[in-house]
Amino acid sequence: KTPLIIDTDPGIDDAVALAIALNHANLDVRLITTVSGNVDVTQTTENSLKLLSFMKKEVPVAKGCNQPLLIKLEDASEIHGETGMAGFEFPKHHTKALPFHAVEAMRKTLESNEEPVVILAIAALTNIALLFSLYPEMKVKVSKIVMMGGTLSRGNTNSSAEFNTYVDPHAAQIVFQSGVPIVMVGLDVTSTAVLASKEVELIKGLGRVGQMFHALFQHYRGGSLKTGLKMHDVCAVAYLVQPELFQTQATHVEVALEGPAVGCTVADLKMKYHTDTNCEVCLAIDVPAFQEWLVENLEMSGDK
Ligand code: BDR
Ligand code: CA
Repeated sequence: KTPLIIDTDPGIDDAVALAIALNHANLDVRLITTVSGNVDVTQTTENSLKLLSFMKKEVPVAKGCNQPLLIKLEDASEIHGETGMAGFEFPKHHTKALPFHAVEAMRKTLESNEEPVVILAIAALTNIALLFSLYPEMKVKVSKIVMMGGTLSRGNTNSSAEFNTYVDPHAAQIVFQSGVPIVMVGLDVTSTAVLASKEVELIKGLGRVGQMFHALFQHYRGGSLKTGLKMHDVCAVAYLVQPELFQTQATHVEVALEGPAVGCTVADLKMKYHTDTNCEVCLAIDVPAFQEWLVENLEMSGDK
């Protein structure tokens, strides 16, 4: 099993990614850390806790950064609803986040693991940039970062930037230049990997977990039932366990830190300006296979 830390901002697509990762036979989720992004970190922490309790999973949750490193937070509550996971009334829970910061929790988890850990980064990269800045010795303990973030084509915030790299571009730049191996699962693949009404109906039939997601999907503005619901963060989980669904290219990526394209991930695809690559970028995904994989895995995440 691959030991995993998930850094997240649930978020409806985050919630699907978490449900699948928590139940996958080849993944061992050791820690969930939260950050401000889709909504603020108090809410993303609460969303993680209530989802875990609904899924009957006991994984420690640590609350992370409230604001990006240098700029003000611009959230995405218009996409995910005011609470970040609108549309379903979760039962009351009594679980709490760890009594220390996400960065400390990541350090402890990395230190206590003999083998290197994978970080699944499905939100702004603030916590991870801070971890590498405060504790650079932790970098060798991370075997790779599989990141939903960035785009080589058009953006979903300004014309050129994807949301997670746009929210905290300085953090994204620190992480890309950290020397830790990175897989960038960006909009180039995640915008095509949608759920159509056929899959949404199948999910509705998958017991209480399926019904919960079906209710959330009715409030998710990351697409529509006609054009398809965008499952951005779920693609990063798919990459972890089924990398053969993706076509990738090794390259060097930098993040624009100012101007009208702030947050844009600029790839040196022809390696004209760099001699070393810092990232494997996903260029294409097998969409029908992904859709099938998602429904199958959600089915396995339900009550056995
Ligand atoms: C990313 O932004 C968030 O709204 C989603 O959860 C995903 O992580 C897509 O651009
Ligand atoms: Ca997310």
